[in-house]
Formats: sequence, C-alpha cells, structure tokens
Amino acid sequence: MYDLAIIGGGPGGYVAAERAGAAGLKVVLFERKSLGGVCLNEGCIPTKTLLYSAKVYNYAKTGDHYGVYVSDPSFKYEEIVERKNKVVKKLVGGVKAAMKAGKVEVVAANATIKGRGSEGITVEAEGREYVSRNLLICTGSEAAVPPFPGLKEAGDVIVTNREILALTERPEELVVIGGGVIGMEFAAFFSTLGTKVTVVEMLPKILGPLDDEISEMLQKTYEKKGVQFCLRCKVTGIEGDTVVYEDPEGKVCRVKGDKILVSVGRRANLQGFGLESLGVELALNPAGRPYGIKVDEKMRTNIPGVYAAGDVTGFSMLAHTASSEGEVAVNNILGRDDRMRYNAIPGVVYTNPEVAGVGLTEAEAKAKGVDYKVVKLPMAYSGRFVAENERGEGICKVIVGAKYHEVLGVHMLGNPCSEIISAACVAIETEMTLEQLQEVVFPHPTVSEIIKETSFTIK
Ligand code: NAI
Repeated sequence: MYDLAIIGGGPGGYVAAERAGAAGLKVVLFERKSLGGVCLNEGCIPTKTLLYSAKVYNYAKTGDHYGVYVSDPSFKYEEIVERKNKVVKKLVGGVKAAMKAGKVEVVAANATIKGRGSEGITVEAEGREYVSRNLLICTGSEAAVPPFPGLKEAGDVIVTNREILALTERPEELVVIGGGVIGMEFAAFFSTLGTKVTVVEMLPKILGPLDDEISEMLQKTYEKKGVQFCLRCKVTGIEGDTVVYEDPEGKVCRVKGDKILVSVGRRANLQGFGLESLGVELALNPAGRPYGIKVDEKMRTNIPGVYAAGDVTGFSMLAHTASSEGEVAVNNILGRDDRMRYNAIPGVVYTNPEVAGVGLTEAEAKAKGVDYKVVKLPMAYSGRFVAENERGEGICKVIVGAKYHEVLGVHMLGNPCSEIISAACVAIETEMTLEQLQEVVFPHPTVSEIIKETSFTIK
C-alpha cells in the first residue's frame, strides 16, 4: 500500500514526489518516457540551452558595439544540438537522483488507473497492480495541431516543439504558425542563426496575453532582425512546404518553409490512462468541450483522494505553476491547509531581449473594472542596463491600485528581466504597496533597481 501514486514525472509530478518523499510518504511515480516531462526533455530546458547558444553567437557578432572585435563568428549547428542534449541528460540524471534521495519508487512504464475501492486507488503498470491511498494526476499536455487541410500530406515538413528540437540541420526558411510563447522563442533562436522566419498569427498582436506596448516593442525588435510578421492572418491550409493563409483583407497569400512549426497552443492529456474508470469531473470551456481535469484550490478533484496538478488541469500551462500545484496537493495530502493562488504567477518569454511579467496587465485591469494607475520607466534609467545593453531598449511597467497603491502587476522588457521578475512576484504575493517597495534596499548597480526606481514615479 502506497500513500501516494503519481502519474507523470514532469515538473508537476516529480516535484510533488520529491516533497512527499521528503515528508516521509511512501510514493510511487509512473513515467512512461523520461523523467522531467516536457519541460526538461522537450520544452523549457532544451529551448533555453539553444537560446543561450544563439545569444553567445549574437554577442560575438555584435561585439563591436562594446569595442570587442570577433572576426568571422560562426557556429556548428550539430554542436549546439549536442550541447542541448548533454544539458538535458545531465538534468534528467539530477531528477533521478532526487527521486532516489526521496526514496520514491519510479516505475518507467505506462500506468493505467483501474478504479477506486475500499482499499484505495489501483493503478496498473506492466501487469503489476499498485494500490495507493492517494493519487496525483500530472499527465501534462501535448501540442495542439489543428486539422489544417493538407497537413497530413505535408509529412515531416510539419513540426511541433518536439520535432523541431530533434532537427540536426538548421532550416534555411521557417514558417511559424502561432506567434505565442513557443512560436516566438523558436523564431528568436532560428532568426539569430540566420534562418528566414515568418510568423503567421491570427490575432492582431504577438504573445496575446502580454502587455500591448511590450508586445509591440518586441515585434519591432524582431522585425529589425529580419523576422516577418503576418498578423490578423488566418491559416487556411498547407500545400507541401507552403502555408496558405488569408490576410486581413481576405487576400489568399502563401509562404514557404523548409519546416513549418505549428505552435498554436497545447491540450491537456486526458486520455489513455484510465481516467474514466474513476469518474473524475472535467472542466468545460464555454463551448462545452473538456479542456482539463476540474480541481479546486487544494488541487482536489471531485473524487476523494484524487488530485491533479500541472498542464492536465488545462490552464496556466507553465512548469512553475505545475510544481506549485503539486506542492499544494502534497501539503493537503499531509493534512496541511494549503491553497493554490494564481495572482502572482510569473510569465517569461526567453527572447533576446527577454520579456517577463507577473500579475495584472493594464488590459486585464481594465477588463476587470479595477481602479488602477500605471507607472513606467525605460530600462535606460538603470545604470547597469545601459552598461550591458548597448543599443538595447527596454521598459518597466508597474500597475497599482489607484487608492492604496498595492502592486497588482509588473511587466518588463529588457535583459535580464527573467531573473528580476521574482522581486515583483514577492511584492504581489505579499500584497506590498509601492510605498513599501520604495523602502526595500536593492543592490546597486543592478537592473532590478528599475522596479524601485519606477515605484518612485507614482503621482
Ligand atoms: P500560446 O497559447 O502561447 O500561443 C498560441 C498562439 O497561436 C496564439 O497567439 C494564438 O492566437 C495563435 N493561433 C492559434 N490558432 C492559430 C491559427 N490557426 N493560425 C495562426 N495563429 C493561431 O501557445 P504555444 O506558444 O503553443 O505554447 C503552449 C504553452 O506552452 C503555453 O501555455 C505556454 O505558456 C507554454 N510555454 C511556456 C513557455 C515559457 O514560459 N517561456 C515556453 C514555451 C511554452
């Protein structure tokens, strides 16, 4: 008898296993592919490794901006990919070691839920049955690939985040369908290495939920780097290596690529592991279609002892959300009262420059009818930013409640905002006001000071 069975070894599952193991629970974790899930194997980590190679190459190419001359910078794509594989392998090994340290039993097999009885919940894998008092479902998500006419016939020209990472040669021309996070990170990577990139996006802006001003600044930056954006464009089909789309005037246009990346969102993995045997309630979208497992703020499903965390819940599909949700589930299993809060979940896009945001955007504050104020400063107000970002642009925007100046949102563009957004997460999580933020001592000279500096511009 186990205390906790976990299906899925991504950042939702393995972090939960680690915490539960450390708390003394008897844990079994089922993972059919590779520990670390999408994040470690075909998402966050490999893409950040590739993007860092692109950044280093870009530094070499633009060294003259800093008085440093590198003659004829070049790269070997296969070595960039090899390094990415090495990093992934090392980190997967780290997760394995953490499981061992927590005495978590890892079953490298496909798990199927058999049902719930008086003993507990039964999960079967490779002919063996495992009975557990609690079950945590962390089966993640997979790339959503719409049935565009001609998509199947296009064969391996079509790639998702998974196949594009396995390429051993750099495409000369890449078409990206969907200018969201995945689309923009790959557009950033390949365009830096010299690939001609076209992004076809159906909305009027890239990175939909992002602050409008920041989204436009990032688009302009990448336009200058040669990326072509086709906004308000609807993909109508694929003809071999060509994406066919309608422009905003209804004109039929075509763009060709050696590879076509489909990055139009992800969908929760709800099938193929016996979920139906438990009668777990699913969350439905306004059209009545299930998009994830329905959970409450303690990550409980409608079935006692059954929890879900991560992308399988169908919203906030981010690795750090998954880990936090997993921790909340474990805390509740341990009898500690813990609730998941979504108001301070940071989002980062690892383009160059980076984009990072947490909390409400101006558009969201407006839509929610919040009485708010916005304060903002160019990143150039930070000495360190100027020292290290020759010709670089950036912005820091803080959204506060109009009356009490409580921090509601912070949104930034400029390196290394992915690292400094954590300060803003703390401010929102602890319900700080701008005046309290002004009292915090930030190290000088750092780019993080921009947050404090911006807070002083409130009128
Ligand atoms: P996304 O939801 O971020 O973006 C999809 C984009 O595709 C949207 O802008 C949408 O308007 C557009 N789109 C949808 N259908 C289209 C069509 N038929 N034609 C043209 N455009 C279309 O989804 P994405 O980029 O696939 O990422 C999936 C998930 O992975 C997201 O939830 C994201 O948060 C997560 N992720 C997070 C990363 C990070 O935190 N840095 C990195 C990569 C992924």
